[in-house]
Amino acid sequence: MAVLEQLTSQQAIDLENKYGAHNYHPLPVVLSRGEGVYVWDVEGKQYYDFLSAYSAVNQGHCHPKIVRAMTDQAQKLTLTSRAFYNDMLGRYEKYVTKTFGYDKLLPMNTGAEAVETALKICRKWAYEEKGIPENEAQIIVCENNFHGRTTTIISFSNDPVARKNFGPYTAGFIKIEYDNLEALESALKSNDNIAGFLVEPIQGEAGVYVPAEGYLRKAKALCEKHGVLFIADEVQTGIARTGKMLAVDHENVKPDILILGKALSGGAYPVSAVLADDGIMGVIRPGNHGSTFGGNPVAAAVGMAALEVVKNENLAENARVLGEVFRNELNQFIPTCNIVGQVRGKGLLNAILINDTEDSSTAWDICVALKENGLLAKPTHGNIIRFAPPLVMNKAQLMDCVSIITTTLKRFER
Ligand SMILES: Cc1ncc(COP(=O)(O)O)c(C=O)c1O
Repeated sequence: MAVLEQLTSQQAIDLENKYGAHNYHPLPVVLSRGEGVYVWDVEGKQYYDFLSAYSAVNQGHCHPKIVRAMTDQAQKLTLTSRAFYNDMLGRYEKYVTKTFGYDKLLPMNTGAEAVETALKICRKWAYEEKGIPENEAQIIVCENNFHGRTTTIISFSNDPVARKNFGPYTAGFIKIEYDNLEALESALKSNDNIAGFLVEPIQGEAGVYVPAEGYLRKAKALCEKHGVLFIADEVQTGIARTGKMLAVDHENVKPDILILGKALSGGAYPVSAVLADDGIMGVIRPGNHGSTFGGNPVAAAVGMAALEVVKNENLAENARVLGEVFRNELNQFIPTCNIVGQVRGKGLLNAILINDTEDSSTAWDICVALKENGLLAKPTHGNIIRFAPPLVMNKAQLMDCVSIITTTLKRFER
């Protein structure tokens, strides 16, 4: 079979099953094209994308300005490594640091790498600036966190599927309940060697848990009081997803270390970044950390274009307004249908809770039915379905999606 021969969906699925590691369980749909809020399968069926590649495609599929920036740069210079300077990285670093109000940026590629980078910066800062004895630094994390899949990150996960048989695990993490300020305060008081507190402003993967209002602001204040770095993982919540440029902006919090990924490229290319001010980022010196691809000229061009699109098209405001419409519509529907217990979220990062046991296949079956009806979404954990469409959606499209979702859910009523 020629590599570029047109495949049917079944052929494509069979190829992945036979030749690819089985580290995902995808919905049975094979996509070959995307534009804006839509994607098409290989048979030509059109769908609304209601996942946005886990909030990477906030700017919509194949945004022409992002694609143009990427292809223009790809024809000039793609990779130099950081052994040499390139004429794009500095511009990009200036653009992103000015956008988010930090002194410095450290460029990486994936979200997990950026989280690893933040943890390393935090530890080094703890030893060199805070004066914690070597190898004693502890970082506070939250239960049910999701920060990626590397060995260190899964070391402080409490998802057994992500952890089991991947030990021995990295030490130096203290786990506390999410959205619990007393737990944070007592962890901060319990130990003189706390370097940082790593938190998702909304727990996305865990099922879109929005903490109580004031949690982030008060958590940041507690960290300040104890001389501990507040590290926000905005890989999923950042870049306008929740109705502000950053989810921490809802509470006017400036993290000491900010982690970005996913929509920093509009889903066109793996681009992630860690931002901090000089007093923190200054601990990183040549040889301490790096990545062959991190900060490459294509990533720099794509990152700037992706952020420009978010600003020029007012995507944060659109996410805020449409998010409210979406939750209002679902809240009106819920009392009429016993299959959904709750809708929750912020901006266009939302989830519904299916009235069934966590280990039931109902949420999965609903997602398969949604697919048949032209909308793609995926369960997060068990009986929770995440809804995160591209932020370029308009109200008419959103109402069309609400109609697909409610009609489909009705069919599962008991
Ligand atoms: C909050 C958060 N952090 C980190 C990551 C990891 O990003 P990546 O899959 O690009 O490594 C994710 C991915 O879903 C995420 O949601």
